[in-house]
Amino acid sequence: MKRPILIHPDPRLKKMCDPVPDISDELRSLADDMLETMYAAPGIGLAAPQVGVLSRLLVMDCVKEEGAPPQPMVMFNPEIVAASDALNTYEEGCLSIPEQFADVTRPAEVELRWIDRNGEERQQVFDGLWATCVQHEIDHLNGKLFIDHLGPIRRQMITRKMQKYKREQARA
Ligand code: NI
Repeated sequence: MKRPILIHPDPRLKKMCDPVPDISDELRSLADDMLETMYAAPGIGLAAPQVGVLSRLLVMDCVKEEGAPPQPMVMFNPEIVAASDALNTYEEGCLSIPEQFADVTRPAEVELRWIDRNGEERQQVFDGLWATCVQHEIDHLNGKLFIDHLGPIRRQMITRKMQKYKREQARA
């Protein structure tokens, strides 16, 4: 089932999310809903607070090649255990900040530990777009948006555009 995506500014997007105690059927079904919502948007990553659930859960699939098989990832309680000194800059966007993009610089490689959909602990190194995406999504779990990496003027400009966008959506 697709779920509505919260649009910035929304107080729920600024909250620190709680760790998931154990993987229930309810949480698995939330993860499946989030994947469906992400693919439909379309997007490459989605964090639970973006659908109004303040739990440490994210989903992503950064496969870009046309016709390549999907690679859906579900991460409960993801943690960055190591990050490279090398940095990478990507033009980022966010399903909660539609049609706004900006360059954000982050570690090029990160090693992650998380609990998967089956409740198994996993650990893996990510690079390229996967590394950027997972750091962006973990930021969401800490109440942080990609615009929080920008200067205050740029951030306020985007926030004002989003307030206008939300007023227009409410009227439509
Ligand atoms: Ni986002």
